[in-house]
Amino acid sequence: MDSRQVIVALDFDDRRAAEALVRRLGGACGAYKVGLELLTAAGPDLVRELVGQGHEVFLDLKLFEIPHSVAGAVRAAGALGASMVTVHSMGGTGIMAAAVEAARDFPGLRVLALTVVTSMTGSDLADIGIAAGPDEQVLRLARLAAEAGCDGVIASPLEAGRLRALLGPEHLIVTPGVTLPDGALPGGTLPDGPRGGALRGGEAGGHARAGTPWAAFAAGASHVVVGRSVTRATDPVAALRRITAGG
Ligand code: C5P
Repeated sequence: MDSRQVIVALDFDDRRAAEALVRRLGGACGAYKVGLELLTAAGPDLVRELVGQGHEVFLDLKLFEIPHSVAGAVRAAGALGASMVTVHSMGGTGIMAAAVEAARDFPGLRVLALTVVTSMTGSDLADIGIAAGPDEQVLRLARLAAEAGCDGVIASPLEAGRLRALLGPEHLIVTPGVTLPDGALPGGTLPDGPRGGALRGGEAGGHARAGTPWAAFAAGASHVVVGRSVTRATDPVAALRRITAGG
């Protein structure tokens, strides 16, 4: 599998830990995901640094705000040099369209619509008044995202196949919620600490709708996001290589 399709999530609360992992992995993955934890802890300079080193950055802002604020945040992400930014599709067409419009000034920036986070189940959706199950809701939101002009969607590996059929070949389908089967972490894993060890042996790691990276690609995902399975492995380079080698 093309290593450019694998995005490594830098879910750290400390800039030095993130930098150390990037030094180890270098250009072996397609992009690094900077999410709310690292961005809040380390600040936007880290994004500039990664971009300056030639890495693509997926800035996972999960924007859910009024359209004016969403547009401003997307422009700020573009100015930092991010390659991808996320907006919540549950915020509706208005904020997705505002994000797409704001990204026009940054040709290298793609807007991805987050559908239903992989930790949510049908009963979580029912709790917030949504009668549709996760599959139906993901497809509904993906249709809205495409109509609003988004470049792609974020969903779980379980929905990748139906999304590819719905969206056609051009849209990005990015799937977090990937876990590795038994024995897929050469070099073992770090002991579980306060922040948890790597995901092992089909552990779901808080992903209610999980799948392996290879199944996600086979179903039509264009990219997978991998976090702890790589970042908490004792040998992150080998863990990433195992994923890109195809299992
Ligand atoms: O679980 P893992 O460490 O591989 O998480 C990588 C990324 O996947 C996280 O940064 C988060 O954005 C996303 N994730 C998710 N749903 C979860 C857990 C993580 O979408 N339940």
